[in-house]
Amino acid sequence: MPQTYIQDLSKHVGETVTIKGWLYNARSKGKLHFLLLRDGTGIVQAVAFKGEVPDDVFERCGKVPNESSVIVEGAVRADERAPGGHELSLKNLTLVCEAKDYPIQIQKDQPDVGWLMEKRHLWLRSKKQASVLRVRATIIKAIRDFFDDRGFTCTDSPILTPAACEGTSTLFGMQYFDEGMAYLTQSGQLYAEACAMALGKVYCFGPTFRAEKSKTRKHLTEFWMVEPEVAFMELEGLMELAEQFVSFIVQRCLETRQEDLKVLERNVKKLETVKAPFPRISYDEAVGVLSKKGHAFEWGNDFGAPEEQAVGEDYDRPVMVHHYPVEVKAFYMQPEADGRTARCVDVIAPEGYGEIIGGSQRIHDLALLEKRMEEHNLPKGPYEWYLDLRRYGSVPHSGFGLGVERTVSWIAGIEHIREAIPFPRMLYKIYP
Ligand code: 4AD
Ligand code: MG
Repeated sequence: MPQTYIQDLSKHVGETVTIKGWLYNARSKGKLHFLLLRDGTGIVQAVAFKGEVPDDVFERCGKVPNESSVIVEGAVRADERAPGGHELSLKNLTLVCEAKDYPIQIQKDQPDVGWLMEKRHLWLRSKKQASVLRVRATIIKAIRDFFDDRGFTCTDSPILTPAACEGTSTLFGMQYFDEGMAYLTQSGQLYAEACAMALGKVYCFGPTFRAEKSKTRKHLTEFWMVEPEVAFMELEGLMELAEQFVSFIVQRCLETRQEDLKVLERNVKKLETVKAPFPRISYDEAVGVLSKKGHAFEWGNDFGAPEEQAVGEDYDRPVMVHHYPVEVKAFYMQPEADGRTARCVDVIAPEGYGEIIGGSQRIHDLALLEKRMEEHNLPKGPYEWYLDLRRYGSVPHSGFGLGVERTVSWIAGIEHIREAIPFPRMLYKIYP
């Protein structure tokens, strides 16, 4: 019999179908066994009645441990009260692989997350974790659709690179044959800039790496970032692009992931307000807000989590903070004429989720870029190609990077970024 997926059961009411999957949970009552089956597309209850199925099948149904893989044949009935709206009258059950002593028990109180993380390869089978991964996949598709449908060309950047993009303190390095040191990329931006000079509007999308030595709920050492880069775009255009982009992603999740957001107990009211335009405040104004709220914060420092929380909490949608002091930002950012602040923007998510986007207009003048690189003690050699972009047909241009896992954490409403990627990499975490 061909396999039917649980999500397609509505097309098979009255028929006998074959479901291939795993036993999610089971209970028995007298002459009945209730088996919750999952196959990755949904969960359905199969009911076995003693006397209506062969005795050996009935007995087997009562003994299958959770998370065993099974093949079940059953007749589909529509049932409004059932999860997913359908139920199966079980006719046969074949055990594919018994899961004896499966270590995670759903009936028990949630064990410690640190312990579950060691069992991450199994924990992914639980309802909430699977919902997070579906939200993640939807966000990734929305990201690609947004740019692909707006004339951007996907031009991916290399992961092995000869030089730093975002400061030298968080580099993972390795000896690269006889060519000296190479580093896992912190950002594909510099290469995206080269591609933007070839194709106008581009984006790169891939894993990026930072040797973050801090343990926070917002930092991974390996995370995915999408980075659009646009020739002839300046800061104002970049802010419009960012708010359109973030609104699009959130709306797509609301359109297609309601079921998963329900499983995650996400308050979707707080996502429904996420529509462009987003509020914009300058760093100077944000510092004013902080001082009004009694934060001991000095002009010229970068925002940490408490500052982002304090600035973000006043709004029902992300806020765009622009014009940070030149000193706290990257070497490539275009300074304002007075040299005090940079033409940059951070997008800060509401509900304490913090920065999800960092971006800026780039320096397009050769002499100014060389000067900034000297101030950052960057060697010229590995960046000669990047300087060439300012030697030959340089134009104002801008771009930003959005961190996928921060965005997943926010939209799915999860507390810690480690649940926003199947297998997280952090300071004390490389297994499994
Ligand atoms: O603000 P960042 O460092 O910006 C850049 O890397 C620029 N080169 C991007 C560009 O303009 N093309 O990082 C961008 C975003 C952050 O806003 C955050 O969402 C995410 O990347 N991010 C991290 N996510 C998880 N773990 C970390 N350690 C992260 N560091 C940055
Ligand atoms: Mg940043």
